[in-house]
Amino acid sequence: MFENLKPTPPDAIVGMIKLAAADHSPDKIDLGVGIYQDKSGATPVMGAVKRAETLLLAEETTKKYIGILGNPSFNRLFSELMFGADSEAITSGRLAVAQAAGGSGALRLGAELIKLANPSATVWVSTPTWANHQPLIGSTGLPIKPYPYYNKQTQTIDFDEMCAELRTHAVAGDAVLLHGCCHNPTGADLTHEQWQAIADLMLEKDLLPFVDIAYAGLGDGLDEDSYGLRLLADSFPELVLAASCSKNFGLYKERVGLVAALTTTPEAAKLAEGQIGLTMRRMISMPPDHGAALVAKILADPQLNADWRKELEDMRVRMNGLRTALADALVAQSGTHNNGQMAAAIAAQKGMFSLLPVTPEQAEKLRSEHSVYLLNSGRINIAGAKFETIDRLADCILAVL
Ligand code: LMR
Repeated sequence: MFENLKPTPPDAIVGMIKLAAADHSPDKIDLGVGIYQDKSGATPVMGAVKRAETLLLAEETTKKYIGILGNPSFNRLFSELMFGADSEAITSGRLAVAQAAGGSGALRLGAELIKLANPSATVWVSTPTWANHQPLIGSTGLPIKPYPYYNKQTQTIDFDEMCAELRTHAVAGDAVLLHGCCHNPTGADLTHEQWQAIADLMLEKDLLPFVDIAYAGLGDGLDEDSYGLRLLADSFPELVLAASCSKNFGLYKERVGLVAALTTTPEAAKLAEGQIGLTMRRMISMPPDHGAALVAKILADPQLNADWRKELEDMRVRMNGLRTALADALVAQSGTHNNGQMAAAIAAQKGMFSLLPVTPEQAEKLRSEHSVYLLNSGRINIAGAKFETIDRLADCILAVL
């Protein structure tokens, strides 16, 4: 019977991992998948994570299940990190939280919860957005509609168009997926004023914020990157959060994330937790332990916590340095050519990604002629660049443009 199965559609990011791995050129620059790389091109285990692992190994006495909603310390400490320990979201008892299998697991659980609460909700996603948002959220059966977000040619946020689309076509109860920080794939984040304006519009239209925050700490800093989320949590009666520990704790393969639903009352929070737990039980029965236990250990231990923050800050500063270096190299090499715009956009954008104004053919040329790996959409992961080869990278980009 399996011969009747349909061939799998290609996945842009998974495909790029394979393609880049098969290129053994010493000149290779891999800006494909969104993982942090250090100056040697490695993605090492963070020091705080290694130390927490040693402690956990020594302390662990059982492999019993951790419970349907996951590790309670992780759920509490990571929620506090996201919303702020003294925030109303945390102190009011209105927050339902559960550990999830990475940010993706959190997105899926969040979308399932929205569907259970309001089966007629549409989920609005930005154009462009992370390539897996639509398949992942769409698998729940919820309809998905796009809102304009970014103009690839002018490299600016289409904020007026975004607001106009949501104002005209979204209906009460619809969910709007917003990237909390370090927008994937553009790196273009809303300003504080834009967060306020979108919050006002969504409140007026009774739309539900569905915040995906996968890069907290890699944009402007941990608290700064939660600005939008916290603004929404302070003003909305309800909200859904999908947060990831993949990038900021470097725990990619451990699959650690958090789903949270801010509800109107503590009683509603209990109902939401019940349904998240039931969905988890039906999908994977019980969540895994290791990654969330590591995050809980790091956040609870003052020394490990301080060490982790320092390492995260170093990663952030390095990526920002690479952004500036690439922007400077583009300006230096393009003279008066109209690439000042691209350089300025790259320098101002946040987190791992920027979207170059290249066509899929130009992206292919970068790969085949220059061993520079980026997605066909033009997305680059700046953390894959190196200071020593930044001039060559700028050269290659300008050559295909
Ligand atoms: C990415 O956007 O490259 C990462 O989030 C990895 C993935 O699974 O897509």
